[in-house]
Amino acid sequence: MMKILVTGGAGFIGSNFIQYALEAHSDYAIINFDKLTYAGNLENLKECESSERYSFIKGDIGDRKLLEGIEFDGIINFAAESHVDRSILDAQPFLETNIMGTYNLLEVARQRGCTFLHVSTDEVYGSTEKEPFSEDSPLMPNSPYAASKASSDMLVRSYMETHNLKAMITRCSNNYGPYQFPEKLIPLVVLNGLNDKPIPVYGDGMNVRDWIYVVDHCRAVDAVFQKGSVGEIYNIGSRNECPNIDIVTIILRKVADKRGLDEESLLKLITYVEDRKGHDRGYAIDPGKIEESLGWKPEMDFYQGIEKTIEWYIAHEEWWQRILTREYMRYYDVQYGERLKG
Ligand code: NAD
Ligand code: TYD
Repeated sequence: MMKILVTGGAGFIGSNFIQYALEAHSDYAIINFDKLTYAGNLENLKECESSERYSFIKGDIGDRKLLEGIEFDGIINFAAESHVDRSILDAQPFLETNIMGTYNLLEVARQRGCTFLHVSTDEVYGSTEKEPFSEDSPLMPNSPYAASKASSDMLVRSYMETHNLKAMITRCSNNYGPYQFPEKLIPLVVLNGLNDKPIPVYGDGMNVRDWIYVVDHCRAVDAVFQKGSVGEIYNIGSRNECPNIDIVTIILRKVADKRGLDEESLLKLITYVEDRKGHDRGYAIDPGKIEESLGWKPEMDFYQGIEKTIEWYIAHEEWWQRILTREYMRYYDVQYGERLKG
């Protein structure tokens, strides 16, 4: 049995990863180590709780003592503060978790001599409107979130070079799918479309993102953990670049169809608002290396993935209603209150 410490396993990608990995590998035992911040939700893992190969420990990746008392053979680090807009409002938790927390995990991995897979993001490369980023592209982070992730990537690199840590880094594009916290663009548009609320589109809506279905990302992380070469970085993406306004329109048309409404009644909810500060114009990533060296490729067609995602949110109203609490609405008000007033 391979005992894997999955940090941030109660978040969006971590919980999808745990569900996927427990099903795909009968020889994996997973310890979900998560602080349960606003983004962590154990309801995401209800189906795993009956498995003897799943356990949960509530903790902060910055807590060395707690981590030292846990037995495991490898670490997959998903734990992070993950939302760019929140990093603009307050960068501190990003530095604490994404930098200092990763440093702490690296120390624990070094003491154990265990494998460390660091889950990072294409946002460390900054913005591109032409060529997709390769693993050799320079790191040019533009948001406090991206800078904190780039810093953690650099720390991982230094532990590989200095301490021969058996580490690998993955850098993925924008994920979407079930269990994504409603602050991110795609679930926000789905929920506001279901609730007839204004859809805030930053700037001119022409910023481009590459959207990948979360399970495709999970399969890629798993492939790197199993077969990746120590010391390597793997870009993960779907070659599915699309301007935000097109994504918003596709979603609203589908939501209108599901609700039996005419498209116009939802499209008119689109509200152009003040742009995000430092807003990266475009992300695009070349996943050629992981495709060629590990035989991974994205499988989900975007339109099918979006359909599945919308259906999931419609079928799981209890899940998101519980999230739309006072705490989330306070954030929503700070982030959008003035913007939506125009
Ligand atoms: P998320 O915000 O949904 O989940 C983060 C999880 O980490 C939560 O469960 C939270 O409770 C936990 N956490 C936060 N601070 C912690 C700490 N100090 N100790 C322990 N647990 C802590 O994020 P996500 O979208 O699932 O992203 C997961 C990882 O993937 C992050 O490292 C992120 O940078 C990376 N990533 C995300 C995307 C994306 O599109 N969402 C794309 C590429 C890479
Ligand atoms: P987001 O989901 O926050 O991911 P990231 O910033 O990590 O790419 O945003 C995706 C894109 O959507 C990004 O260009 C910002 C834009 N956006 C809006 O236009 N309105 C919104 O309310 C949000 C949350 C994002």
